[in-house]
Amino acid sequence: MQYRPLGRGPLTVSEISFGTWLTVGAHTERATAVACIHAALDLGITLFDTANMYAAGEAERVLGAALRSSGRSRDQYLIATKVFNPVPPEPDKGLSAAQIAKQLDRSLERLGTDVIDLYQCHRYDKETPLDETMEALDRAVRSGKVRSIGLSEWPAEKIHAAAELTTEHGWTPMTSSQPQYSLLWRKPEENGVFDACCEHGLGNIVYGPLAQGVLTGKYKPGEPPPAESRAANPEANFAMETLGRRFRSDEVWAAVQRLQPIAGDLGLTMPQLALAWVLRRAEVASAIVGASRPEQIAASAAASGVTLAEDVLTSIDVALGDVVLR
Ligand SMILES: NC(=O)c1ccc[n+]([C@@H]2O[C@H](COP(=O)([O-])OP(=O)(O)OC[C@H]3O[C@@H](n4cnc5c(N)ncnc54)[C@H](OP(=O)(O)O)[C@@H]3O)[C@@H](O)[C@H]2O)c1
Repeated sequence: MQYRPLGRGPLTVSEISFGTWLTVGAHTERATAVACIHAALDLGITLFDTANMYAAGEAERVLGAALRSSGRSRDQYLIATKVFNPVPPEPDKGLSAAQIAKQLDRSLERLGTDVIDLYQCHRYDKETPLDETMEALDRAVRSGKVRSIGLSEWPAEKIHAAAELTTEHGWTPMTSSQPQYSLLWRKPEENGVFDACCEHGLGNIVYGPLAQGVLTGKYKPGEPPPAESRAANPEANFAMETLGRRFRSDEVWAAVQRLQPIAGDLGLTMPQLALAWVLRRAEVASAIVGASRPEQIAASAAASGVTLAEDVLTSIDVALGDVVLR
């Protein structure tokens, strides 16, 4: 496993990180989720991403317990969690000072830790003045409960605005952004998010780099999804129907199959090709992957350190054609 600085610090993160949405605390047996987390640690993965709302808080509980039972000391792994969305059954949400204070304490308790390494705003909150949010996050860092702060899926103009505010007031600057980014979903390259992050010293931890498993090539056009895949799982399938709906078509699955010979010629697996492609960008510090089984996280970890030549990047674009979302 190789490691990269996350923006201008203070964290250094593994190139592949482990995500807990849909696979920890729900939809996967607890023992399997714990085995995936322990496998990730054995593979040198140091960054673990969760959110207060994942499985209504259960993802944080299972992740925290698994990390504590791993035999590693607390400084051998990093915990990233998020705030913004409601945590069922309670309806309150957002990034007000009161909400951040309340949700932070609850996340710390569920995770069973006294510090969160990276506290991320899951989405931008249009209802709360940005200076209230940034001051509350600064207070969280000064209290010692949080080491660094980040955001997820904020528009570029809000990243600029947050950076300007923290500079003006001497508050803790944001150090990371978490956008969706993959061979099939290239928006951060073109919507100004990567540029804004570069300008203000934020690193990117990108999610969905396997497009919910589609870029592993296991879905074949004209065939039903393989048994035990997310697309075949009636409980987890909602994610393929919502966030992943654009990846769920014979046209996309056929385009992804055209990547198989490119990966094969290079002696790479499909997860290696897809993950090396996102990690080719200097703006990307880490790619967060989910795993339903320990073998999957091993397949993803094997992408760290793989580089792709320019002519390979061109062949990939030709193979995918117009299914890419820009
Ligand atoms: N900030 C945000 O708004 C946001 C949004 C979404 C996700 N995230 C973060 O990103 C993480 C990853 O998201 P994700 O789970 O949607 O995306 P993903 O990593 O693209 O997909 C993970 C799924 O792909 C399949 N898979 C992975 N490796 C495989 C392999 N080697 N062979 C075959 N299938 C494989 C598995 O599903 P099956 O085996 O079930 O098919 C696995 O659960 C989340 O856990 C979360 O931490 C953040």
